[in-house]
Amino acid sequence: MGQATKNKLVLTSKIASDTLDYMGKKILHLKVAFVIVFAALSPTALGLFIHLTPILSILAAIVCAILSAIFLIWILKPLGKFSESVRAFSDGNLNHRIDIRSGDEFEDMGNSFNTLADKLSKTINQTANDRDIAISEKNRFDEILSSVIDGIIALDFNKNIIFLNKSAQNLTGYSNTEVYGKPVNQLIHFFSDTEDILPKTYCQGNFNQGVKLIGKDGKQTKINLIATQVGGPVQTNLNCILILHDLSQEEELEQMKLDFVSMASHELKTPLTSIIGYLSVFLEENKSQLPKDGSDLLDKAFIAAQQLQTLIQNLLNVNKIEREQLSVSPESVDYLPILLKAIEDLKNQAAQKNISLNLTSPTQTLPKVMADPIRLGEVVTNLVSNAINYTNPGGRVEVSTAISPAEVKTTVSDTGVGIPPEAIPHLFGKFFRVSNQLQKASKGTGLGLYITKSIIEKLHGKIWVESEVGKGSSFFYTLPIAPQNSSFQNEDKFVAQAIQAGTLNY
Ligand SMILES: Nc1ncnc2c1ncn2[C@@H]1O[C@H](COP(=O)(O)OP(=O)(O)OP(=O)(O)O)[C@@H](O)[C@H]1O
Ligand SMILES: [Mg+2]
Repeated sequence: MGQATKNKLVLTSKIASDTLDYMGKKILHLKVAFVIVFAALSPTALGLFIHLTPILSILAAIVCAILSAIFLIWILKPLGKFSESVRAFSDGNLNHRIDIRSGDEFEDMGNSFNTLADKLSKTINQTANDRDIAISEKNRFDEILSSVIDGIIALDFNKNIIFLNKSAQNLTGYSNTEVYGKPVNQLIHFFSDTEDILPKTYCQGNFNQGVKLIGKDGKQTKINLIATQVGGPVQTNLNCILILHDLSQEEELEQMKLDFVSMASHELKTPLTSIIGYLSVFLEENKSQLPKDGSDLLDKAFIAAQQLQTLIQNLLNVNKIEREQLSVSPESVDYLPILLKAIEDLKNQAAQKNISLNLTSPTQTLPKVMADPIRLGEVVTNLVSNAINYTNPGGRVEVSTAISPAEVKTTVSDTGVGIPPEAIPHLFGKFFRVSNQLQKASKGTGLGLYITKSIIEKLHGKIWVESEVGKGSSFFYTLPIAPQNSSFQNEDKFVAQAIQAGTLNY
């Protein structure tokens, strides 16, 4: 039996037992009074029938007193049994029952008491059982919640804290007792980059966002806050559950990973540049004197070294994008020469695969665009070399432009293998490659489109793709037209707007 239930039972029985004690005392007083009155009246009553001497009167009074006392004790004996039974009950002996076999009302009362005791002990046992089950359920639930790595905070309808698990205590610096029943917004603060996020915002519907948490000691922790409105029955007084996922460790790991990639890429870049340089000079000066096999091997080594250099450059670029350090310096530039140069550089690659590569001449003079010429060159190169790589020999690659009032749209289309629709949503992600024969044959890292998209977005443009498997693909991107008579002042204005829109990063 639960301790609290037992305590309640003892208290109830004690009250009953005290009441019976009180009654017992009153009955004792009554008994004494009865015996005295009976003893006092008996000589007078007897005197009505026979003549009594004073000594006989005293003797008669004594005899009557004894007889009346014996009679009273006999009559009231069952009451003592009641008192005993209640006392036994009050001591926690729920199995105790009264045994009165007088055949009169006292026996009926005893039976009623026993029936009551049966029901009472059954109810008490059941309640104790239910309570034990509820306590063990609660303990199990508490154990589960405290072993969850994420912090969990429960709020009531007034946005007061009603529960904080162990992880939430570690994250906020508060213990359960310190915060119980207190308004969450007075103790724990959540911030986005720009503003304070209040309970009325995060406890409405489903909220899922990276935020900064400020707890007891004023320490800031980067977390992902997931808040769910519970909307359960009002009796539970549970309105909102907050899940706090600590991001600081993940950020630290991510930072270490970025540092490692950056360091390794830089270390590889220098010797590789030397290898490419020496190979290129050697091939240029000695190719004609080398035997064909030797020259072919050196060509392959040169191409492999160049591929490695592209990979390292891609990794460095991705690293900069992740750190938000990819520098893009837009200026008013002539677009056509950039297009022509990139296409010219890839002419050989296309010719080797017997692919025709053309730039459709613009119908009107291309206006200047706001772009970083080097980064824009990378964009064109990535898209055109993809078009060549993923097109079978004999195919076509076309680059064309279209002018609208605010932007220039460029299209790079091919008659290549195409992209399956289910791959398109992932195409501009990191390290994504479609697996088909042609993709397997060409060596790539799946970073080109990710970098291309980042550059275009930093230039305030958009990029997208349309494709049909077996027919070919068209990649489109837009660039903002530079303000006419672009002066330094205008460029500054563009840059300021772009920075405000979060698209340029200096
Ligand atoms: N024009 C295209 N036609 C068909 N598939 C394409 C085309 N362009 C890109 N893809 C698919 O998208 C994937 C990702 O392209 P992305 O340029 O990002 O990487 P990659 O070419 O594999 O490697 P790299 O990082 O060296 O460019 C490619 O592997 C290819 O499967
Ligand atoms: Mg590519």
